[in-house]
Amino acid sequence: MSDAQVQFINVIKSFGDRTILKGISFEAKQGEILFILGTSGTGKSVLLKNLVGLLRPDTGEIWVDGEEVSQISEEKYFDIRKKCGMVFQHPALFDSLTVFENVAFGVRKHYDYPEEKIKEIVKKCLKLVHLDDVEEKLPQDISYGMQKRVSLARTVAISPKILLFDEPTTGLDPVTTNAVNQLILDLSKTLKTTSLVVSHDMHCALAIADRIIVLDKGNIVDQGTPAELKASKHPLVKEFLMEATTHA
Ligand SMILES: Nc1ncnc2c1ncn2[C@@H]1O[C@H](COP(=O)(O)OP(=O)(O)O)[C@@H](O)[C@H]1O
Ligand SMILES: [Mg+2]
Repeated sequence: MSDAQVQFINVIKSFGDRTILKGISFEAKQGEILFILGTSGTGKSVLLKNLVGLLRPDTGEIWVDGEEVSQISEEKYFDIRKKCGMVFQHPALFDSLTVFENVAFGVRKHYDYPEEKIKEIVKKCLKLVHLDDVEEKLPQDISYGMQKRVSLARTVAISPKILLFDEPTTGLDPVTTNAVNQLILDLSKTLKTTSLVVSHDMHCALAIADRIIVLDKGNIVDQGTPAELKASKHPLVKEFLMEATTHA
């Protein structure tokens, strides 16, 4: 095992006779923003779900913060999920709970803190995502972009060592996209978390990634720093690059 905070070793995952992950190996180091780039349907969400134990691999090893987790019990996974904060594509906030209670929810579930401390954490996290005066609002009373920030604050509130983003900018307008990209950068710097971002957005990858891994049909087909990938000869990467420059 290396000093990586997240490591996949030859991970295979199938559904019936369809193999989605065909022996994936990679690692993310402490504090790094690792981008996993791939077209839709290629297995990005399946990869993240294997990491947080929502799915289990058929074979292979998954290391999180020094522990091999692929076959541990559901009960033990509770502690792993505390380390891995996942931000889903859609905010999926609880409609009937205020912004405050949405952010406090995971904290209450994972920690036995007094109310004062919970209040302090919620306020700090809302500030981190630049949200003011929305604590008592319901999700439907704020914009989609703001809901997305609340979902970020909610994840950050449990103090994860590892932040996972599933398509953080998909479906957002360019202004909100830039704001979310900036937030991922800021959070990773301020909190010194390791971040894994999965997306098909090459523009976003070039803007924030330390390293990019390109996933295609269940295999890693290319990888490198943004500068290295800009010079890639791989046809899929070239296609991604073309799209990033035309739509940027
Ligand atoms: N629970 C599941 N059962 C069966 N097939 C699944 C399941 N989850 C995902 N898949 C299939 O795995 C493939 C990869 O899905 P996914 O990881 O969601 O793609 P994406 O890269 O767009 O996130 C898709 O063909 C999808 O239909
Ligand atoms: Mg997905």
